[in-house]
Amino acid sequence: MNDRSDFVVPDITTRKNQGLRHDPVDYTLPQPLERYSAEDHATWATLYRRQCAMLPGRACDEFMQGLQQLEVDADRVPDFARLNEKLLAATGWRMVAVPGLIPDDVFFEHLANRRFPVTWWLREPHQLDYLQEPDVFHDLFGHVPLLINPVFADYLQAYGQGGMKAKNLGFLPVLARLYWYTVEFGLINTPQGMRIYGAGILSSKSESLYCLDSASPNRIGFDLQRLMRTRYRIDTFQKTYFVIDSFQQLFEATAVDFTPIYQALQALPTLGAGDVEAADKVFHIGNQDGWADSDDL
Ligand SMILES: [Fe+2]
Repeated sequence: MNDRSDFVVPDITTRKNQGLRHDPVDYTLPQPLERYSAEDHATWATLYRRQCAMLPGRACDEFMQGLQQLEVDADRVPDFARLNEKLLAATGWRMVAVPGLIPDDVFFEHLANRRFPVTWWLREPHQLDYLQEPDVFHDLFGHVPLLINPVFADYLQAYGQGGMKAKNLGFLPVLARLYWYTVEFGLINTPQGMRIYGAGILSSKSESLYCLDSASPNRIGFDLQRLMRTRYRIDTFQKTYFVIDSFQQLFEATAVDFTPIYQALQALPTLGAGDVEAADKVFHIGNQDGWADSDDL
C-alpha cells in the first residue's frame, strides 16, 4: 500500500527501456544485446526448458518444426539477427525489436510488411508464470516458430492488411477477436489429436496444460462470424477455445472481404466468452469449473 498519491510505480516496460530510444515512427530499435544479464539468460533457459519438456504431443507439429528449423536458442535469449537469416530464407518474414506493446496501426503496418515486432526484454525470475505484458519469451518463443510455415505466414500478413482496413472502418474490436482466438489462443485438430498453435498458450506452462486437459473450457470448431461475435478473457484462462482443421482453412476463411461481414455482425448480439450456440460444432462443452464471473472483454 502506498499513501503517496503522486508516486507512480514504473511499469516494467518503462524500467527496461530506460535510456533506450526507439524510432518515433515504426517503434523499432536495435536489439540491445548488451542489456541481457546472466540472470536474463538463465531465466530464458528455465522458461525454454519448462515449455519444451511439455510441448511435444501438445504443440502442433508446425510449431515444433519451426523451433527446430530456426534453431531457437535453449540456453540464452536469442540474437534476432541470427534467427532472422533463417526466417527470411524460409518465408521472407523477419523480427524487429520493439520496446513493448506498440500502437495498433504501427503493429498492422509491420505485419502487412512481413515484420514481426518482438519485445526485446525478458520477464524477471519471479514472473515465470504470469506477466501481463508481452516479453521476448512470449513474442519470440510463442509467435516466431510458426512464421516458417508458409500458410500461417501468409495468414498473419493478411491479418495486418485487414487490421488497417478494420481500423479505418471502425471495426477493430471485432477483428481483434480473430487475432485473440487464433494467433494467441488457437487450437488445431490433427489426426493425432488436438494441438496448440496459439502463442498465448505456447508461452504459458499452465495454459498449455489447461487448454487441452481441463474439462472446464469449451472447445468449439472455428467459424469466422461466430468467433468474431465472441468476447474474451484477458485476466483468466479462456472460457472457450476455437479449433481449426488446418492453417489452410484459417487462411481461406479469412481471405474474403470483411466489409459485408462487419455489416452483418452489427445486427447480431455479441456472445459471452463462455456461451455455446445451437449451431456450434462442439468438441467439448465446458463444465465451467472455476470460471470467473467478472466481465468478459
Ligand atoms: Fe502475442
